[in-house]
Amino acid sequence: MRKIYWVVLTIIPLFILLTITSCKEDEIIEPDVTYDPTPYAFDIPEWVAVNIGEISAPIDNPTTIAGVELGRALFYDERLSNDMTMSCGTCHKQANAFDDPRPFSQGTNGAFGNRNAMAIINLAWDGSFFWDGRQQSLEAQAHDPVTNPIEMANTWVEIENRLRDDAQYQDMFKRAFNTTVIDSILITKAIAQFERTLVSFDSPFDAYYYGGDATALTSDEISGMNLFFGDAKCFQCHSDPLFTDNAFRNNGLDLMPLDSGRAKFTGLDADYGKFKVTTLRNIANTAPYMHDSRFATLEQVVEHYSSGVIQESPNLDEHMIDFGSGLNLTATEKMQLVAFLQTLSDNDFLTNQQYADPE
Ligand code: HEC
Ligand code: HEC
Repeated sequence: MRKIYWVVLTIIPLFILLTITSCKEDEIIEPDVTYDPTPYAFDIPEWVAVNIGEISAPIDNPTTIAGVELGRALFYDERLSNDMTMSCGTCHKQANAFDDPRPFSQGTNGAFGNRNAMAIINLAWDGSFFWDGRQQSLEAQAHDPVTNPIEMANTWVEIENRLRDDAQYQDMFKRAFNTTVIDSILITKAIAQFERTLVSFDSPFDAYYYGGDATALTSDEISGMNLFFGDAKCFQCHSDPLFTDNAFRNNGLDLMPLDSGRAKFTGLDADYGKFKVTTLRNIANTAPYMHDSRFATLEQVVEHYSSGVIQESPNLDEHMIDFGSGLNLTATEKMQLVAFLQTLSDNDFLTNQQYADPE
């Protein structure tokens, strides 16, 4: 009799309690949306594909409408940083062609890095990222700032926990990746998809050069363009249509580079002082200039190529050798070159609502 009493009093209620709690944990609330792999339609002029090929993406991360929408939300989500004050968009601002107008970006803990942030423009055609090229895909790149102690200073476990409880994200992950399991791999895939949509080929230069609109540039701008593609030799490294050859080169800034540049990643003496040749598209909007932000204006940059090239700089690029100590441009030529660089700004890219914070 006593035994049965015990069973009724302790084991049965315990059993009931256990089933209730385990039910709760196992309960999967499937979002009321379905997987949607509709490809994202890139709006890219025909001459781009003719010159540099179609956009490519990794086979395991095709660009879809749902993926891009998710990536955009994540790019601007401050929950990615430890104290929830900083998103990718804090340092990569659309009005600055997704660059940072501050010489050096500041992380959530107040510390400054020692390199200028980089613009995010037409990176779908690129295969190595950062000033030293230490990451080989946009997916891999996006991992770094999140855990970098002088940037977002967070952990992936913390982010996954924060986003997992968000019903809106559950819907978005389901639509983009057919799963509600939110992890760092899918977060960085979605961000990379959004970044691939950041294409810019609609500047006054494009209207003139590729679009055949003879009125798109002024005569000074045209003279500057002729210098750029001619005597000033800029195109040798900043080649169109991307205005970069995506290589790593030394353009003769220093006798003793303080930042070892690409050698920091490869460890090779032959890479000491080499940095990524950056695109010049939207360059008027991405000041300050160079990896260490040493130049505040385009006039100062042009002056470097005109009179400041250091031939003794280690591993100076072969294209810089016939620059001598500079091109000795006249005041008019310098003005025209700067005027031309300003025609590479693409107003639609800088203001397109599809790239803005969805809030
Ligand atoms: C605290 C400011 C800061 C934040 C936040 C930040 N970045 Fe950056 N980003 C930088 C800096 C600085 C560099 C260059 C660093 C280097 O070369 O060592 C950079 C470089 C990049 C590049 C390389 C571009 C190229 O041409 O090679 C990409 C892409 C990029 N960031 C994307 C992101 C994404 C995506 C996020 C969010 C997950 C993010 N960044 C968050 C400052 C920041
Ligand atoms: C030998 C290849 C080479 C040539 C030729 C060259 N550049 Fe550059 N340029 C680079 C590299 C490499 C960088 C980045 C250097 C760094 O930050 O250390 C750069 C950076 C720049 C920047 C700053 C980009 C930024 O995002 O901060 C501008 C503007 C620029 N170049 C304009 C020009 C102009 C104008 C000419 C012609 C007068 C020219 N370049 C010729 C290789 C070259």
